[in-house]
Amino acid sequence: MEVSTLKLGILVSGRGSNLQAIIDAIREERLDADIKLVVSNRSKAVAVERARAANVPVQCFRAKDFSDRECFDGAVVEALQEAGAEWVILAGFMRLITPVLLNAFEDRIINVHPSLLPAFPGLKAQEQAVQYGVKVAGCTVHFVDEATDGGPVIGQRAIAVNDDDDADSLAERLLVEEHRLLVDVLAALSEDRIELDPQPPESGTGSRRRVHVKR
Ligand code: GRF
Repeated sequence: MEVSTLKLGILVSGRGSNLQAIIDAIREERLDADIKLVVSNRSKAVAVERARAANVPVQCFRAKDFSDRECFDGAVVEALQEAGAEWVILAGFMRLITPVLLNAFEDRIINVHPSLLPAFPGLKAQEQAVQYGVKVAGCTVHFVDEATDGGPVIGQRAIAVNDDDDADSLAERLLVEEHRLLVDVLAALSEDRIELDPQPPESGTGSRRRVHVKR
């Protein structure tokens, strides 16, 4: 099995527990990756402290310093490329990204979302799940394309929703699964076990590019 060290750029906005899961997996040699740069759009995010504590390079970009989203993303792309990042992980990055970032890292951007997509895209997915009354919830790691939370699915994990769950309790249990799934997907990536079809298998609105994960 060919293993290559993944060169990661990780985009964050908040608590950074997914970032921490990646840091821990690398440290414990469960994941062959090198975090080239952490980018945050919030300088006070806990994620920034976590990066610093782990001696990982981190840069903060404030939206108000840029005239529009494209300029913001242009600066992020430049920083990621300069740092040598080859893959971009959206780990709780609370900004919509533009084609500037998508095109610079085509098919190399991965997001973790706290629902079983395509159910409950967007914000507060766990709250949406509880409000809907679903009995099974989960998380998804997927390639990012121009549709919000809409790119090809790489992996999913499901858990039961309990009668007494609220959005917080569900989010807490889902987070554990997110961390495992994200690290597993990155490990598969570093082992060259993930293949993304260049095209959907057939034409038609429901047909999507598929991801194959080799065991
Ligand atoms: C996670 O639930 C992730 O799925 C969502 O935002 C949250 C980020 O958590 N996109 P953290 O910042 O990694 O702790």
